[in-house]
Amino acid sequence: MSLETGIHSLASRLRSATRVTVLTGAGISAASGIPTFRGPDGLWKSFRVEELATAQAFARDPRTVWEWYDWRRQIISRALPNRAHEILASWSRRFARFTLITQNVDGLHERAGTANVIRFHGSIWELSCWSRCGRSSWRDDEAPLPQLPPRCPDCGGMARPAVVWFGERLDLDVTRRAMAAVECDVCLVVGTSSVVYPAAGLAAEAARRGAFTAEINPEPGARGVDLAIAARAEKALDEIDRMLG
Ligand code: APR
Repeated sequence: MSLETGIHSLASRLRSATRVTVLTGAGISAASGIPTFRGPDGLWKSFRVEELATAQAFARDPRTVWEWYDWRRQIISRALPNRAHEILASWSRRFARFTLITQNVDGLHERAGTANVIRFHGSIWELSCWSRCGRSSWRDDEAPLPQLPPRCPDCGGMARPAVVWFGERLDLDVTRRAMAAVECDVCLVVGTSSVVYPAAGLAAEAARRGAFTAEINPEPGARGVDLAIAARAEKALDEIDRMLG
């Protein structure tokens, strides 16, 4: 199927949809200058997950883990939402029931003004107490952070990034809201390599419940979607949005 035909087909599905759910990954922020994880410039090419994105790694060497998150926070703090973020923000006001589920911790969807964002893997701008003193997570926008590791304002113990690390469970409320959102007319997967679960299983779940499923990615890889559009998000979403008028 040609790119043009794919874009037309998705636009016509969206035109008659009321319940739209979009799942995004690092690829949607690529045009904002934020490295993906597994792409050619991917973070996991030069850094090892085991050394940076697990609770064990943090327990072993919290300073190194914080240096890495502080470096990413500085990159993200200089970035701006791109056309893809902007269009999804407008769609969050356009469709009667729109839900955006993102694996990204960068906060660019929220900065673009998107309503009803489910942060599947947490936020790089939220911190929580490593010693679990009872303090709930708190926002901290300082980039660079004045002190590494930052401290819990209540107990003075170490703080950790309030993101979901490999081997950790998702927040139950987040999972519950995501399961409600896959009950939809159109489920669109944008900019993810679809290798990390449970996010990678959402499109198949939406399809199982009768949704039309589609993917936008220069290198499509989501399993079992009805339509794969091999293109960059900022370009394909722009074309679809113009067709929606
Ligand atoms: N538009 C759309 N997709 C793009 C673009 C673009 N401009 N540029 C790259 N991509 C695609 C790539 O082809 C790739 O399939 O985005 C995808 C990015 O995949 P990953 O780097 O694996 O990122 P993601 O799928 O979000 O990773 C999932 O893994 O590392 C953990 O917790 C981290 O949330 C992350 C999770």
